[in-house]
Amino acid sequence: MYFSLEYANMCGIFGYVGKRADAGCIVVRGLKNLEYRGYDSWGVAYQVNGSILVKKDVGRISAVSADLFSNASNLALAHTRWATHGGVTQLNAHPHTNEDGTVAVVHNGIIENFQELKEDLLKRGHLFLSETDTEVIPHLIEEELRSSDDFALAVRKACMRFQGRFAILAMHTGSQTLVAARTGSPLIVGVSKETADHPQGYFIASDIPAFIEHTRLVQYIDDGEMVVTDGNSILFMDLKTGEERPKREVEIQWTIEQAQKGKYAHYMLKEIMEQKESIARAINQEEEEIETIAKAIRSARGTFLAASGTAHKACMAAEYFFSVIAEHHVNVVSACEFKLYHHFLKPESLLIVVSQSGETADVLEAIKIARSKGSKVLAIVNVQGSTIDREADYTLYINAGPERGVASTKALTGQMAVLMLIAYALKGALREGKQLLLDTVAQINDMLNPRYVERIEHLAEKIRQKNDLYIIGRGWNYPMALESAIKIKEVSYIHAEGFAGGELKHGPIALIEEGVPCVVLAGNDEVAVDIVSNALELKARGAYVIGVGPARRRPAFDEWIKVPDAGAAQPLVNIIPMQILAYFLAVQRGKDPDMPRNLAKSVTVK
Ligand code: G6P
Repeated sequence: MYFSLEYANMCGIFGYVGKRADAGCIVVRGLKNLEYRGYDSWGVAYQVNGSILVKKDVGRISAVSADLFSNASNLALAHTRWATHGGVTQLNAHPHTNEDGTVAVVHNGIIENFQELKEDLLKRGHLFLSETDTEVIPHLIEEELRSSDDFALAVRKACMRFQGRFAILAMHTGSQTLVAARTGSPLIVGVSKETADHPQGYFIASDIPAFIEHTRLVQYIDDGEMVVTDGNSILFMDLKTGEERPKREVEIQWTIEQAQKGKYAHYMLKEIMEQKESIARAINQEEEEIETIAKAIRSARGTFLAASGTAHKACMAAEYFFSVIAEHHVNVVSACEFKLYHHFLKPESLLIVVSQSGETADVLEAIKIARSKGSKVLAIVNVQGSTIDREADYTLYINAGPERGVASTKALTGQMAVLMLIAYALKGALREGKQLLLDTVAQINDMLNPRYVERIEHLAEKIRQKNDLYIIGRGWNYPMALESAIKIKEVSYIHAEGFAGGELKHGPIALIEEGVPCVVLAGNDEVAVDIVSNALELKARGAYVIGVGPARRRPAFDEWIKVPDAGAAQPLVNIIPMQILAYFLAVQRGKDPDMPRNLAKSVTVK
């Protein structure tokens, strides 16, 4: 099997070759920007005077000084790991080498047949130090180098023996080249052209933030391709046949400032505050394109929305948008459950997938299922050039700029804004929808002032010692209750659950005791009266009720977080104070909101 989504490692890889002599420092600095892809261990390999030096350890690369890698070197590769095969140990950290250390490799993904390859290599006398699947790669490359000293060919031949989905970077003491191969896991080339400020060179990384400080000129490596570069030129080839592939250079729009924390202590807070501008960018879509999509939905025999995590909550909110605004039914499915929906798919069906990263394995799997039925796929993504972007028939970008915090914030509101525009277009009222969202952007801009943020910080102080927290909402605020609970538990580790207000008395209300904090998400909508009744039910059982909504509902709310009245865009404004609350709960409990335990930003495992 050449392409599989069964399992994959979720890691960040980065390599450099070029005229700069500080390759070790470059890759360490870049790796710090990829840490959101995995942060249990790290490693670097760099060529110094024809030898390969390897340094690796458990822990976070953010704690490592780039100065430790200052030896003169033009060629380096590096890795930050989210463990799958083998525990978090120094020996399991990448890079992995062959016994004499002449070949070094970093890898993202899985070699599914590694056990069988390893047994074969063991019989041939190779020694292994780690429990990883990756370690077979340098040994196999070494074997191939016995029949020819062409390093790129050796890597290509070794790759032909792997089953699974992977991206690798490899180097060899016998050449000054960096070789990369991709069959599923993301890999992008950054091109640095010789100028007065920038020496000639190439960067190859899992994601753009690794090299954005050096260049915005990129070339995408497609699945089933490899690249070979000595820093002066680069060759793209078909991994199977070795045939050359022509490539375009593309200038990406992200800026360095967008990719950095700037004045903020954490990316999460920066990205929450960026919603003042990011929603405006999301709705800045070509009207014709949105109308064409609305037409496709109108004529489709069944429209399905599939996504994971926070993006799935955006789709759940969209189900209400399509119903309330356009009176049109869509089916919303968690991407990991989509497999069982294939019975409903026809060639005339439409699948809309939503993903920040554009790399989520379950979403890619949903696309594969839709394809097998001949259905068309529309993607709503943030990352241009991502796998989902490239696999879909048509893509809309939310243009949120890089999202680095593991907990998704600005991507959610961008996704909801785009889905809402489509719902308005379906109603035949795109301009009305756009105006509503523009007004909402202005309201959010006013709301997100320092005093507002401080108020929520104080509220967090009041409840940070609590063990449990419940959030309720109705209609489009119901998915926001679920999303608020995700945000709070993933960054603060407080047990938080979201419910539909009406479901309270069917079980959850049994959990309410004196002083348990409960957040009630309210709007000025057709379920406004019902949600206030639910708030009163909570209060009658002793809950400490925190209301989030445009109106202070006395006596239901003990605390009130005021948000603007945004009509159909209410979920976009209601979720923002909840993101801020989650952030402060994490920080006040001494947790790093950007790197929550056991999680990674881009989930490439099924
Ligand atoms: C991970 C992230 C979440 C994200 C989900 C889906 O779990 O931690 O923040 O919502 O993946 O990611 P996607 O990139 O497809 O939106």
